[in-house]
Amino acid sequence: MGVILRDVTRRYPGVTALAGVTLRITDGTAVALTGPSGSGKSTVLHLVGGMDRPDRGTVEVDGTALTARRMDAHRRGIGFVFQRFHLLPALTVLDNVLAPVLPRRVDFDRRARAAELLEAVGLAGRAAALPSELSGGQQQRVAISRALINRPGLLLADEPTGNLDSVTGREIIDLLLSLRERYGMTLLVATHDTEVAASCDRIVRLHDGRVIADDEITPADDVLERLGGLRP
Ligand SMILES: Nc1ncnc2c1ncn2[C@@H]1O[C@H](COP(=O)(O)OP(=O)(O)OP(=O)(O)O)[C@@H](O)[C@H]1O
Ligand SMILES: [Mg+2]
Repeated sequence: MGVILRDVTRRYPGVTALAGVTLRITDGTAVALTGPSGSGKSTVLHLVGGMDRPDRGTVEVDGTALTARRMDAHRRGIGFVFQRFHLLPALTVLDNVLAPVLPRRVDFDRRARAAELLEAVGLAGRAAALPSELSGGQQQRVAISRALINRPGLLLADEPTGNLDSVTGREIIDLLLSLRERYGMTLLVATHDTEVAASCDRIVRLHDGRVIADDEITPADDVLERLGGLRP
């Protein structure tokens, strides 16, 4: 699903979180949102995810402008992954993955989908475990499976590696990118991690609620980045 923000402003008392952001994201791309703390990254994700409304400007997802009336349906079509996983501690891994499914839609299809997703994230054998029995990286894999259960065309991730060590963080971003390919999603990820950002197709940098840089990552850039450690 493509995303278009047009001149979006979001103000809170005493602070302008976004000051006229315009951004076009092509369907199927992986875009990193970077910038210092407070620059507006999470605000962008909340607006695109229909969890917040702009004071000015419009947000369009998959060719449709977001309006208050459409929010619920819109939110169901989007997957969201957070820094702190937000799993329900009393539910098993499988039930956490199924949690976003509307009750009347719990059917074999959904259970098969949950099993497929747990397999895709490498947790096929842990469906009956509780979140507290898993490592941080494994908990994030459960959260990613949960985000994908309703077959979203757009996956939003807010600091998905922020609570993980760098090796596990690398595995999680590689997983997000491969799932993006496999399921044909657009990926929008807010991150402080330059390596995570460099793995995406494009890096949008925010500062004080404005876009101050917007760079496509070409395959050559990516190779240079990976070889960076070998250069003198
Ligand atoms: N609910 C809120 N009420 C008041 N101010 C808010 C609220 N949410 C965000 N802000 C303010 O808006 C600005 C942008 O916040 P945002 O969370 O989007 O930044 P961020 O780039 O995600 O930062 P971080 O890297 O720390 O997560 C900040 O100044 C923040 O204090
Ligand atoms: Mg944030």
